[in-house]
Amino acid sequence: MTGLIIEGLHKTFFPGTVNEIRALKGIDLTLAPGEFVTVVGSNGAGKSTLLNSVAGVITPDRGRILLGGVDITRLSEVERAARIGRVLQNPLAGTAPSLTVAENLALALARGRSRGLRWALTAARRRRFAEELAQLGLGLENRLDDKVGLLSGGQRQALSLLMATLQRPDVLLLDEHTAALDPRAAALIADLTNRWVRQHRLTTLMITHNLEQAIRLGDRLVMMHEGRILFTVSGPEKQALTIEGLRQAFERVRGQEFSYDRAVLAH
Ligand SMILES: Nc1ncnc2c1ncn2[C@@H]1O[C@H](COP(=O)(O)OP(=O)(O)OP(=O)(O)O)[C@@H](O)[C@H]1O
Ligand SMILES: [Mg+2]
Repeated sequence: MTGLIIEGLHKTFFPGTVNEIRALKGIDLTLAPGEFVTVVGSNGAGKSTLLNSVAGVITPDRGRILLGGVDITRLSEVERAARIGRVLQNPLAGTAPSLTVAENLALALARGRSRGLRWALTAARRRRFAEELAQLGLGLENRLDDKVGLLSGGQRQALSLLMATLQRPDVLLLDEHTAALDPRAAALIADLTNRWVRQHRLTTLMITHNLEQAIRLGDRLVMMHEGRILFTVSGPEKQALTIEGLRQAFERVRGQEFSYDRAVLAH
């Protein structure tokens, strides 16, 4: 089977020092091709460390990661870049503000490919970009030559999502990509993400602090806590899930109160 397979992943920061942090304590997680998984968990649970391990930003101490049947655990971030799409929290991070929308897209298309044609903005490419932008439904197809710095946060995250998926990656990683937006833009990007992931059958791992989003979107919800997966919810059980139900599930497993700082505010 292809898709994403994560096996026995461990990561400790500053090992053997007083600052030692065991960020991942044995994560096993498999995503079937086209599966959409949402990840929730309190601050410091290890969610970003997990995504960063898949992206190659950090190297796990133990365990392996297979993508499309290939062991990518030891590949550099650059080596896996063409097969992985990523959108992060900060709308300013995913795009280059001083370049135009079309230039940003051309860069995204060149990612992981050899130099040479990097910057070629042919008429055919512009047409393709306009077509894809039109599908976002935000009118960005009319702004190909506008500098990205002129766009709103929501428009930039929509463009980031398109850039991250332009090469139809084997996995899409989203790390709180709606968290920095105002509620209206956050809802718009969440809905767009859902539509995009389904339309292109993207294997997707999405971290969110918005429990309502995590419950509503995706095929499976994963709850992380202190470097471990506490539980997952899928199928009819997930469809019937409520924020209160999620809180109760956490308290059943942990035997402690569900104090979920930011998440409480995020609905
Ligand atoms: N590059 C790093 N160097 C050192 N420590 C790190 C690094 N990345 C993460 N950590 C630590 O590992 C632990 C897990 O962090 P991580 O960012 O994965 O949590 P998270 O679940 O994404 O939390 P949040 O909801 O706050 O984003 C934290 O204690 C964090 O301080
Ligand atoms: Mg994080």
